[in-house]
Amino acid sequence: MHFDDHKITESGNSRLSRSMPLVSFGDSPVGLGNRIDYPLNVCSIGRRERFNAYQCLKKGEIGPAGHYRDQFEARFAELVDAQHVLAVSNGTTALHLALLLMNVGPGDEVIVPSMTYVATANAIRHTGATPVFADVSLQTWCLDPEDVAARITPRTRGIVPVHLFGTLADSALLEELAHTHGLWVVYDAAHAALSTLKGIGSGALGALSSYSFQLNKTITCGEGGALAINDTALFKRAQRLRSHGMDYQTRFLLHEVGYNYRLSNLHCAILCGTLDCVEEIRKRRADIAEAYDKELAGTAGLVFQPVIHDQKREVWLYSLLCDPSSGVPSRDTIMRDLARLGVETRPFFPAIHRLSFHRLPPKKGRPLADLPVSDFLAHHGFCLPTHMSMTPDDARQIARFLKQLLAGRDCGLKRDVANGAA
Ligand SMILES: Cc1ncc(COP(=O)(O)O)c(C=O)c1O
Repeated sequence: MHFDDHKITESGNSRLSRSMPLVSFGDSPVGLGNRIDYPLNVCSIGRRERFNAYQCLKKGEIGPAGHYRDQFEARFAELVDAQHVLAVSNGTTALHLALLLMNVGPGDEVIVPSMTYVATANAIRHTGATPVFADVSLQTWCLDPEDVAARITPRTRGIVPVHLFGTLADSALLEELAHTHGLWVVYDAAHAALSTLKGIGSGALGALSSYSFQLNKTITCGEGGALAINDTALFKRAQRLRSHGMDYQTRFLLHEVGYNYRLSNLHCAILCGTLDCVEEIRKRRADIAEAYDKELAGTAGLVFQPVIHDQKREVWLYSLLCDPSSGVPSRDTIMRDLARLGVETRPFFPAIHRLSFHRLPPKKGRPLADLPVSDFLAHHGFCLPTHMSMTPDDARQIARFLKQLLAGRDCGLKRDVANGAA
């Protein structure tokens, strides 16, 4: 078995020895002492990753260039079906580099979904451009092309669709829209390293896709990222920008102001170890999702992540919504009660258009953008445990807890509370 011991939770502690809140609602965190039976995400460092890392350490090859970096870039390009891949320090810097390659800057507007991790919008702000938030569609949970069209202005330069929770955004419609208006498209594929459309990897979509290998991702080295590039001239410039604007072959031949966005050979060694196990990762995660799907099928009050024709999505975190119109307890109540039963969950991202520091500068009469689907997902969406150290049986047990809570049964919670567990 590849995934054996070394298990680390999302917060960096070793499994089952954690004493911290499982969910936090405002001022009233719900804690369980040491009892987390079902952590949300456990990072498993397997034998191959450890072997590769040890080789790097033994030879002192832990710097910014080296055999594992070259190998990782070539193998990840093959995995996501991209022409080129550049390993970088994280997913945010990958996105920033992609935007710099599109020459975006102050005065420009870039359309982005409100329902994403804040890093997507932050990277746009790092260039000096303004993120303009568009809504997502209930059919995909990704950018709604119609809403994007309504937000295009003479200042719009590009669109950054996000493949949320592994579902690939509607690239055909978005690329067509971009083409009609002379815009570029850069994909945020942080959740979609293993997603495919008609059997082709996510890195084949458009010219540029960014990836994250942060601790909670399906493929991880703790912190890391990559940019998939389907244009050789852009790739050459990206190589320079990654390393202070320096010529890739000739030392100290400097061309422009660049960045230090390099990823170490040691990180790439870990990633190469994980790439050896991609099929095992796909299968285990698909089995977990299938166990949740089957056990939860037909449960009143739940809305499942949309299934899109021709797509196989990466199973990152199993994600679903509590439908408020069906009379079941609220998402927050369900999450709190699951926490009391030892199940760690997490809400969807906050809708970014609501964050004061990301709102468009107030203009007279301009109301806050109306993005009802993003708000709906932010209020009602939550993620269940999904990782390589759990089994489909674990998923079935969690699903049974969830079903009982939705049906208004307390699963012994009152007894636990009386015993001082909550
Ligand atoms: C959708 C999305 N985009 C970008 C990022 C940023 O990646 P990183 O944390 O590696 O900078 C993340 C998460 O980490 C993400 O979830």
